[in-house]
Amino acid sequence: MYNTLLGINTSMSFVIGSPCVGCKDTKCVEVCPVDCFYEGPDMLVINPDECIDCALCEPECPVDAIWSDDELPPEQIPFIEINTRMADIWPNITETKEPMAHASPYSLEEAIVIGEKHVEDEEQ
Ligand code: SF4
Ligand code: F3S
Repeated sequence: MYNTLLGINTSMSFVIGSPCVGCKDTKCVEVCPVDCFYEGPDMLVINPDECIDCALCEPECPVDAIWSDDELPPEQIPFIEINTRMADIWPNITETKEPMAHASPYSLEEAIVIGEKHVEDEEQ
């Protein structure tokens, strides 16, 4: 659940981070038993309210873009909000499709800017 006071998601879930941005491999979606992946133009996000923390998706991602939120590297923390916010906006995805690229072409900083821009665009 998203805690508006803390500005973070306070229940356990998995989070998609920067290596997905511009890669969008989509192998992760096929193993999810609750279909809680959502697709943006250049990345996927996980709905933290729907994720049951089964951990099946984490090893499926070839670029290691998925973390449990309690193991999230500090530099990936901006993606908690990006996942939480955009999962309410973007359409559900349940089937693998052609990746955008074999790896993200962006630096961590660039990927965060891209992710945060999606959130900002929704707020306008
Ligand atoms: Fe789906 Fe399980 Fe991954 Fe959560 S941890 S997104 S429920 S596959
Ligand atoms: Fe992204 Fe990895 Fe899934 S690149 S779409 S989190 S398989």
